[in-house]
Amino acid sequence: MIRVKVILPGEIPSRSHLALFCFKDARRPAGDVSFGAAVERDLKNAKKYGFTGETGQTIAVPSSSRRFERVLFIGLGPQKEADLQTIRIGAAAAVRAARAARFPSLVFQFPTVDSADRAAQAAAEGLHLGSYRFTAYKSKKDDTKPLQSVSILSTDKKRAVEDRNGVVRGTVYAESVLLARDLINTPPSDLTPEHFVRLAKKEAGGGVQVRVFDEKKIEAMRMGGLLGVNRGSAKPPYFLHFLYKPKGRAGRKVGLCGKGITFDSGGLSLKPPKAMETMKMDMSGAATVLAVFKALKTIKPPVEVHGFTPLTENMPGGNATKPGDILTARNGKTIEVLNTDAEGRLVLADALSYASEQKLDEIVDIATLTGACLVALGDDITAVMGTDRALLRKIKDASAKTGEKVWELPLEKGYESHIKSTVADMKNLGKPMQAGTIIGGIFLKEFVKKGTAWAHLDIAGTAWTDSGNSLSPAGATGSFVRTLLEYIVEN
Ligand code: BES
Ligand code: ZN
Ligand code: ZN
Repeated sequence: MIRVKVILPGEIPSRSHLALFCFKDARRPAGDVSFGAAVERDLKNAKKYGFTGETGQTIAVPSSSRRFERVLFIGLGPQKEADLQTIRIGAAAAVRAARAARFPSLVFQFPTVDSADRAAQAAAEGLHLGSYRFTAYKSKKDDTKPLQSVSILSTDKKRAVEDRNGVVRGTVYAESVLLARDLINTPPSDLTPEHFVRLAKKEAGGGVQVRVFDEKKIEAMRMGGLLGVNRGSAKPPYFLHFLYKPKGRAGRKVGLCGKGITFDSGGLSLKPPKAMETMKMDMSGAATVLAVFKALKTIKPPVEVHGFTPLTENMPGGNATKPGDILTARNGKTIEVLNTDAEGRLVLADALSYASEQKLDEIVDIATLTGACLVALGDDITAVMGTDRALLRKIKDASAKTGEKVWELPLEKGYESHIKSTVADMKNLGKPMQAGTIIGGIFLKEFVKKGTAWAHLDIAGTAWTDSGNSLSPAGATGSFVRTLLEYIVEN
């Protein structure tokens, strides 16, 4: 990761490369430290080359001041619309442009929106998220000189303290997001359930425990959903129970369940080749849970947090579960499996049943559950459903702070009949082409103890980006790691 420092105006090294944020059509760069007439001249110069301050626009010009080497202008869009996400996107654009221009280091300031520490946090997040690349499997190492350090310019000593706090928080959040991205981007034959367990164990310590349930234990726990999905795979399943216990009294107890299908072939209801290409990402929910625990060790919030990750491949081996088979989940409910590709809800059925036994105040599950979610909300909006208004409010508030968009779908009572089975308590499918994402939520609700506040996040659209977005290159995004952290830490 890039080194990030907070410095005062007197500490700018001479001949630095400078990045300056500009709102649309502004005459001066944004931020509280003024660099005077020279920089305004540079901006005029940049405008000659077509720079307007539109979101995401970047241009580097030689500085007319002897203090600086080159000045990189970054467009932030209209000032009226500026929020923390504007800063994240701007910072991400700045590091990418700086790297492309081969700057070894960079000095920048950001405009204040929200509070100073939150703005600094957003800047640090943008820097780290925007500069991420997954290079573990490239044989040729990239020859572009890495951008090694970024100095964030603060106005005075008091403000620098707030900025530093924000940078620390933003770096911890981003580190976790990048860990999730690495896990999700790793090829599915390398990132197996067993390997996931090894990586999870590395996060134990510092207040975090990881309990590992192997196949024998999973059988003893009667997790029929997880076992049923695993039957077609040559590799054994695992179930992890993470626990973070704060020192002193915990304010509340929260549970996170993450879908951990390390590869989703569809099973016997085999996916077509195109649909299978990205299915190494079907453990994004579990990766999110692991990544959250990594950050909890450092942030140490006064909340007890439990994490549950059912881990298996979904494969069509000779012993695979067949359409028509009936599985019994941990809570005793029976499920007729009519499509083995609707496997996420089967493994989460057990995870939610088990979580419901742990006397938690709130349970949130996170899963790449339905292709229908991508159809409904696209790859930039996560779907949320739930049984508790207060919990849904907390998640929406957290999402507004992190800039990870979320939209609520209704758990429509009238659709509960869609998953009725003639031979079992329920089936794992609704009606063809109807409300697929909602049906996923309605199915999961059956496995949450009545009275426990519960929310379901469908990240099928947001966990992955085919073309890259403002904060992520193509591939895994690490979606909702930051929002779940924010939800845990701020409530
Ligand atoms: N892992 C998929 C959902 C998915 C699809 C995630 C595309 C990300 C991108 C899930 O297991 C699945 O295949 N769901 C089925 C459910 C259907 C059979 C009811 C789907 O969406 O088609
Ligand atoms: Zn599937
Ligand atoms: Zn799946």
